[in-house]
Amino acid sequence: MTSKELFQKAHDEGYAIGAFNAANLETLKAIAQAAGALKAPVIAESSHGETEFIEAANLVDVVRNLSEEFGVPMLINLDHSPSVEAAEEGIAAGYDLIHINASKLPYEENVAATKKIAAEAHAKGLLCEAELTPIGGTSAVHEEKAEDVVAQEKLTDPDQAEDFVGRTGIDTLAVSIGNVHGVYASEKHLDLDLLAKLRARLSCFFSLHGGSTISEEQVRNAIKIGKIVKVNVNTELRLAYRKTLEETLKSSDEVAIYKIMPPVIAAVQKIIEAKITLFGSAGKVS
Ligand code: G3H
Repeated sequence: MTSKELFQKAHDEGYAIGAFNAANLETLKAIAQAAGALKAPVIAESSHGETEFIEAANLVDVVRNLSEEFGVPMLINLDHSPSVEAAEEGIAAGYDLIHINASKLPYEENVAATKKIAAEAHAKGLLCEAELTPIGGTSAVHEEKAEDVVAQEKLTDPDQAEDFVGRTGIDTLAVSIGNVHGVYASEKHLDLDLLAKLRARLSCFFSLHGGSTISEEQVRNAIKIGKIVKVNVNTELRLAYRKTLEETLKSSDEVAIYKIMPPVIAAVQKIIEAKITLFGSAGKVS
């Protein structure tokens, strides 16, 4: 199935595909093992910093190998590429999904950059994702309350979104509805009424960023109301990785890295399996 067909199936059947950030082999193994165990399509993705660390060509080759080994579709998403040049590097490297995030630019410049990348992605049969206004936060633990970060953001305006999607030709809109990247001192609250308005106006695919620590009920409702096909998760994976690695190192003097890492992979895999189950994509690979 093509990326578009996988997204369309998720849209039509009412589930979302988990998009999990990775910059190392352990996290990629955790993603593949979770997808294989639950027979779920998944997306492995790298942010700009993660891409620079692992390098696009390495990520693409490892994901293709793991997809074949575990017999599940694993799409590769370039997550939040910050410029036309960075997005073009992702297209050339063989990513399936290209997220251009030019949302910090003035609106007309965002439209122009996004339109260019959407056309270049489509010429290669890839899907393009973009956003109107920056989704706040970072994939880390923050002491502030989520609502304080959201208060500094501009949520996705339905009129502008219609103009943006129509003029750029993107496939997927990253909606800003109260979702912020990272883990906060308070719960995240999604504006599901706004999501319903956006859904009523737009027929493109929707993605939900900031997937860490949004309550299960809100995630389920968002997927249902917004027909969201892709939910991005990063911070919870980073936390599980770091915590388990610290515990493992404390409890042994082992120096063989391949013996140290299995519990780390297992901890990350556990989070991914819970997310896949929550998003409704388990068992969707026939
Ligand atoms: O693109 C990546 C995500 O939106 C990650 O968000 O760190 O809150 O899970 P998160």
